[in-house]
Amino acid sequence: MAQKNLKKGLLITFEGPEGSGKTTHVRLLCEYLRKKAFKVLLLREPGGTLIGEKIRRILLEPKNKKMNAVCEMLLYQAARAQLVREKVLAALEQKKVVILDRFLDATISYQGYGLGMDIAAIKQIGKLATSDLEPDLTILLDISAKEGLRKLGRLDRIEKRPLSFHRRVRRGYLQLARENPRRIKVVPLSKDIARTQSAIRKIVDKKWRFRI
Ligand code: TMP
Repeated sequence: MAQKNLKKGLLITFEGPEGSGKTTHVRLLCEYLRKKAFKVLLLREPGGTLIGEKIRRILLEPKNKKMNAVCEMLLYQAARAQLVREKVLAALEQKKVVILDRFLDATISYQGYGLGMDIAAIKQIGKLATSDLEPDLTILLDISAKEGLRKLGRLDRIEKRPLSFHRRVRRGYLQLARENPRRIKVVPLSKDIARTQSAIRKIVDKKWRFRI
């Protein structure tokens, strides 16, 4: 399907607990879509802009032990606000497929379910940060918290949190998937990369048929 056939931009987000293999699968999906002649923009959160990458460093620096939960949540949303306005909205306007490695669901799962912050408040601030933008599709790569953490090398400030935190994050994601079954598709992570990627591509292809 050629780029010219796309009626509007498409926003696909990837989510998942630590060690869920997002980076690999985002890259593989990007290659797949580009081969199909789609114009694809791949971005990550927090980051994707000069300002966002600076915010990312502050958020993930293990030395920033004193960071308050409210500060943390607002910094994630601040990076998001910048990314949406600097890159995402323009790319969607140009009918590109935007693939985001994490979005608002991550703040609901990590700072809401994980840290116990008020989810209604996170969603409210999220509406402002995202300019009310909702993904067309969210791929939730699912892996148990324990298994996911086992795969990591040097840990950043968030990854260093106890297993109980990461278990709440995962439960949060699965809860979001139950609440948004049309948007969020859960893909259990298989050890076989090709198998997981094939499941993702099937979901995306199905979504295409609705959009073009
Ligand atoms: P990444 O490892 O997927 O690049 O994400 C960076 C870390 O930030 C990861 O531990 C998840 C965490 N995170 C949050 O806690 N809240 C958020 O809103 C986002 C986007 C990420």
